[in-house]
Amino acid sequence: MAIQPVNEDLLEQVDQYIEKLFVPPDEALEQNLIDAEAAGLPAIAVSPGQGRMMYLLAKMSGAKRILEIGTLGGYSTTLLARALPKTGKLVTLELSPAHAVVARKNLERAGVSDLVDIRVGRAGDTLTKMIEAGEEPFDFVFIDADKTGYVGYLNQVLQLSHPGTVILGDNLVRHGAVLPGFASPDADAVGVKAFNELIASHPRLESILLPILKNKVDGMSISRVK
Ligand code: SAH
Ligand code: DHB
Ligand code: MG
Repeated sequence: MAIQPVNEDLLEQVDQYIEKLFVPPDEALEQNLIDAEAAGLPAIAVSPGQGRMMYLLAKMSGAKRILEIGTLGGYSTTLLARALPKTGKLVTLELSPAHAVVARKNLERAGVSDLVDIRVGRAGDTLTKMIEAGEEPFDFVFIDADKTGYVGYLNQVLQLSHPGTVILGDNLVRHGAVLPGFASPDADAVGVKAFNELIASHPRLESILLPILKNKVDGMSISRVK
């Protein structure tokens, strides 16, 4: 099967249509992206529309404890923290100390820094420490760091979950690079392909993968722990 070309203009127009209609203007988030770019961070935060969906999912789940893997400049962190009650807590894991500095500033400006704990280091190591320390389970998890680590992160996250925990994964379609007919998947595509297969058939999960439109097609999974 050959991968068919897509009309990228149409994808972008549909994404923009949804964004204009459903995503309220937000100064803190707009400034977040401006400062992240000025600091040299890559422009790979979730899109406003995807962020809106994550905010709603977190709020609907009633999550009091959220775990995020991959902070970048704190864009998705801000949206998830806003879904928390005042007594809630969000732990976000980030490898790069420089990214964490930008995120901290952005979270302060957004008024959510009291709810957020940024832990700097390799997420796999931090998660191992959290499991060993018997850290309280999380109600809602967003996996969005290095794609080759996703399978390992899922296995660790399951040890920090309870029945009902919601787990999201980002960048799971990669413009078709996960499809069986794709000629040369890179290491990231191989990583998320394995993640997709794992969450699709895992005995402790019920899952779905949603397409996400930007100027390309990507995807985000939603899983619920049984
Ligand atoms: N969730 C963010 C985007 C995260 S981008 C948002 O939507 O706003 C991915 C981040 O994961 C980058 O900041 C990168 O530095 C971080 N990362 C990469 N490898 C990592 C690792 N092994 N452990 C922790 N973070 C890692
Ligand atoms: C890219 C996008 C992401 O959302 C991410 O987490 C990592 C990389 C990208 O488009 O390269
Ligand atoms: Mg991502």
